[in-house]
Amino acid sequence: MRFYENFEKISENREAQRSYYIPYDSLEKALKGDKNASAYYKLLNGSWRFKYFERDIDEPQKITGWDTIPVPSCWQLYGYGKPGYTNIMYPHPIDAPYVPDDNPLGVYERDFVIDGIWENRKTYIVFEGVSSCISLYINGEYVGFSQGSHLQAEFDITKFVKVGTNTVCAKVHKWCVGSYVEDQDFFRFSGIFRDVYLLSREQNHIKDVYIKADTKTISVDAENYEIYDGKVKVESLDNPILWNAEKPHLYTVIVKGETEFIPFNVGMRDIKISDKYELLINGVSVKLKGINHHDTHKYNGYCMSEDDIKKDLELMKNLNINTIRTSHYPPTPEFLNMCDKMGFYVVDETDLENHGYGRRRIDKEGYDVEDDIWPCQNKNFNTIYVDRMVRMVERDKNHACVIMWSTGNESGFGKNQVDMITWAKERDSSRLIHCEDASSKGDYEHIDVKSHMYHSVEQVEDYAKNPDKGMPIFLCEYAHAMGNGPGDLVDYMKVFKKYPSAIGGCIWEWADHVVMADGIAKYGGDFGELTYDLNFCCDGLVFADRSLKAGSLSAKYAYQPFDAEYNNGVITIKNEYDFTNFNEFVYAVSLDVDGEINVIKTDSIDIAPHAIVDLIVEFKMPEVCKYGAYIEFTVYGKNGAEIGMKRFELPVKRETVAVSKAKGEILEDSERVYINGEGYSYIFNKHYGELESIVKGGSELLADRVKLTVMRAPTDNDRKVKHQWMYVDGNVSAHWDGENLNRLFNKVYSCTLNNNVITVEGSLAGVGRMPILHYTAQYSFYENGEIKVDLNVKTREELPLFLPRIGFEYSLKKANDSFTYYGMGPFESYCDMNCHAKCSMFASNAQSEYVEYVKPQEHGNHFNSKYLKMDCGISFVAKDSFEINVSEYKWEALYLAKHTDELKKSGNTEVRIDCAVSGLGSNSCGPELLKQYRVDKPEYSFTYYIL
Ligand code: GAL
Ligand code: MG
Repeated sequence: MRFYENFEKISENREAQRSYYIPYDSLEKALKGDKNASAYYKLLNGSWRFKYFERDIDEPQKITGWDTIPVPSCWQLYGYGKPGYTNIMYPHPIDAPYVPDDNPLGVYERDFVIDGIWENRKTYIVFEGVSSCISLYINGEYVGFSQGSHLQAEFDITKFVKVGTNTVCAKVHKWCVGSYVEDQDFFRFSGIFRDVYLLSREQNHIKDVYIKADTKTISVDAENYEIYDGKVKVESLDNPILWNAEKPHLYTVIVKGETEFIPFNVGMRDIKISDKYELLINGVSVKLKGINHHDTHKYNGYCMSEDDIKKDLELMKNLNINTIRTSHYPPTPEFLNMCDKMGFYVVDETDLENHGYGRRRIDKEGYDVEDDIWPCQNKNFNTIYVDRMVRMVERDKNHACVIMWSTGNESGFGKNQVDMITWAKERDSSRLIHCEDASSKGDYEHIDVKSHMYHSVEQVEDYAKNPDKGMPIFLCEYAHAMGNGPGDLVDYMKVFKKYPSAIGGCIWEWADHVVMADGIAKYGGDFGELTYDLNFCCDGLVFADRSLKAGSLSAKYAYQPFDAEYNNGVITIKNEYDFTNFNEFVYAVSLDVDGEINVIKTDSIDIAPHAIVDLIVEFKMPEVCKYGAYIEFTVYGKNGAEIGMKRFELPVKRETVAVSKAKGEILEDSERVYINGEGYSYIFNKHYGELESIVKGGSELLADRVKLTVMRAPTDNDRKVKHQWMYVDGNVSAHWDGENLNRLFNKVYSCTLNNNVITVEGSLAGVGRMPILHYTAQYSFYENGEIKVDLNVKTREELPLFLPRIGFEYSLKKANDSFTYYGMGPFESYCDMNCHAKCSMFASNAQSEYVEYVKPQEHGNHFNSKYLKMDCGISFVAKDSFEINVSEYKWEALYLAKHTDELKKSGNTEVRIDCAVSGLGSNSCGPELLKQYRVDKPEYSFTYYIL
C-alpha cells in the first residue's frame, strides 16, 4: 500500500480547520480588507519550479532540469499529461483504497523570503486547493500531508523556516484514496489550482472564530472584538440592518489579538421554514432562482482568478439569479466573501461524489447502497466523509450567504452521511441541511428540504400541492442547459411562484466546460481518454467564455423579479422582490406597432415587496396593423441596465395580405407547370409536387426544389428522441429504432392544376416505414406574381413520437443573405423558449443567425413570426404566423459536425418556413419535452404568401 492509499491517514500535521480569515497588522487595514496590504499575509502564487513524472516511482533523489509552471494552474493545461472528461465512470478501476500503480506526480518548488518582522512569530502555509493530495516539504524537511482537493489545508511551518530565503516543495499526486470521493462530472485536472499563501501569526494567536448572527444579535466567540458598520464603530445593535441577497448589508467584526486584527464580514439574517413550508429569510418567503456553479475556465480549467469569479457573479446578478449551489465542492473562500457582499443565497456543497460506484459492475446499475461496498455505507470511508463536511462547515460557517449545507452529490445515502449531518447539525443549527441522495432514497429524517434533480414540472406540482414530507421541495438541479435550451423555464417558475412549498431550484449549470486546443473548443473523447462522456460537459447557461445564448436570456426573463399582466389599459404589476420597493427602478411602457416603437411613459412606481399595483397607461389603440401590436413593460436598474420586460399583444386587427387577381393563363406539360408574368416566372414540378424554379427580377432564386420536410439537426436536448427520428448509421440495433425521417420519401399521389391553383396530395415516409404524415398542399398563383401556399397535414394515427418540425425548406442561391423579419427575435426563439424575445421587426443575415454551440446543432429559429423579406428578392408573409429560420448550413451539416471547425456551409442560403417546430426542453438530462411543446398533434395547417 502506498501512503496515499490509506483510509485512515488522510492527513498528517494539517492544522485543525478553522473559519477562513486573514490577519492584519492594523485596524485600518483590517477594516479595508485588502489582504495584500496585510504585513502578515504573503501570497506565493506565481512561477514555481516544476517537474512532472508519469510514474511517481520515477522521482529521483534530487531533481535537476526543472521546468516552470504558474501556480495556481492545472498541469494538464501546460502539456503535462492530458485533460480528460468523464462524467460518471471513474477514470480508473474501482478498487478502493487503491489507485493505479502508474500514478503521475507533479513536484512543485519555489523559494520565499521570511522578513525580520515575522521572526519570533508563527508561520503558516495555506493551500486553498490541490488535486488530489499534497505532501509538503520545507527546506528539504517533511512537514505534512493533506487530501481533499477543494478544501483548505493549513500547515504550521514555524519550526522549519528561518528569516531569509527558504524553499517550499509540494509533491502532488494525481490520485489518492480521496479520488474515490471526487468523482464529480467535470474535466479531471491535477495540480495546485487555488491560491497558496503564508500567514504570520502571533505566538498565542486566536485559532478559530465562530460568529453567529441572526436578526437580533451578533455573537462572537472571541474575547476581544468590535463591531463596525463601514468605518463607524457600532455601539448598539438595537435597530440592525439585516442582510439579504437583495440588500446585502454587512457589518464588520474585528477580532483583536495582541498584534493582529482579524476582520469578518457579518450579515444579520435568519433562515426558517414556515408552517406552509416556505423558505423564510428574515421572515419573508423567498424563492430561490438559482444556478449550479462549477469553477471552469476555457484556458485555465479549475483555476479561476478573483476577477473571473467576480465577473461570473456580476453576470449572474444581471441574469436575475439569486442563488448559487457550489456544485460539487466548496468554492474558494473569496467566492463566498463576494457572495456575502454582492448578495446571493448559497448552497455550500462539500467535495464529495462517488457516482461511479453505480457503474462498478455491469450486472448492477444505480444506487444499490445496501451493498456495503458503497462509500456512503462503508465504514472505511467514514473518516473521509466526515472530514469533508467538517472542513467545509468550519471554514465557511461565518458567511451570511450560506443558507444550506450540502453533503455532496450523487453518492447514495448511508450511515456516513448520517454522521456528517449529525455533526453539522450539532455544530451549526442555523442552516438547512441539503442531501439530494437522502430525498431520492426516501429518507426524510435527517434533511430539511426535499431535494431532487430534473423533476418535471408536474412532479414538482404534485408534491407542492400536498407537501406530505413536511418540508419544502427544492430542485438542486433542473433545466439542463446543454446546447440549445433550456426550454420550459417559465413553466417551472409558474409552479415555484404558485405554491408556498415549491421554493425554487438551481439550473444545471452555469458555464460550458471546454478545453481550447488550436482555437477550437474540445470536450470528452478529444484527448484519448479511456472513458469519456463527449460534450456532456458543455451544458452551461452561458458559453465557456461567458457570452450569452438565448437560454441565458430566457433564464433572465423567467427569473425577473416582477410579474405583470395587461388588461384594457391597465398593467397590473406584482413586485416579486422580497426586500426591495419597486420605486428603486425606472419603468418604461412602450407601444410597438409593426416594429415601430414609441415610448408612452417612463416613471417610477411605489410597490412594496410582494405587493400588486395597477398602472394605467393611456395611448391610442391602433385600428389595424400589418403584423402585430404590443404593449411592452420594461424595468431598468439604477445603472440603466434592463432588469426585465414583459410584452402583451394588443387586440388589434391585422390587415389581410392583398394579392392581385387570380393568374389567368398558366401553361403545363406532362411534368411541369409554367407560371409566367411581368418580372417573374415560376416552374412547378408536378412529379415531385414541389416548386422548382422561382425567377424574379431576371435571376433564379432557387438552388433546389422547395421541399416539405420534418427533420432538424438534433439539439443536445434531442439526444434521446433523435433515435426515434433518425436512421443512425453504423449501429445495427439502432437501425430498428427510428422513423428514419432523415431518409425521407415524398410520395405524390396526385398533383393537378385547376385554374390558378395547383393541388398536391402526398405523404412523407421514412425508408422502411409507413407514412408519418399525409398532406394537401395548394399553391395559388396571382397576376402580379404572388403565390399563396396552404398546407394541411394529418399525422399518422397513434404517432409514436413527436416530430422535429413540419415545414418547407427553401434553398436560396447565395446572392445576398441579408433579411428583415417580423417575429420573435433578435435572439433565437422556440415555442418553449421565448420569454426573452420580442415580437418585432429585426434585420439580420444568415451568418449572424449562427449560434456557436460547442457541438453544432439546431439553432436560429424565430417563433411566432409573420414576415420574412430576403434581400435577394423574395418575401414570405404568414396569414396567421409561421416559424422561420435562415442559415448558411443544412441540417445534415450541423448534425455531422462534432466541433465547429468541421462544419461545412452549403454554399446557399437555407430558409425554413415552418408550420410548427418542436420546443427544446431539457431532455439531455432532464424530463421529456412537455406535451404542449411537441409537434405530435393529429393535424397541422398554415397559410403563407410568397411575394
Ligand atoms: C447530474 C449531476 C451533475 C451533472 C448533471 C449532468 O446528475 O449531479 O453533476 O452530471 O447531472 O450534466
Ligand atoms: Mg455525477
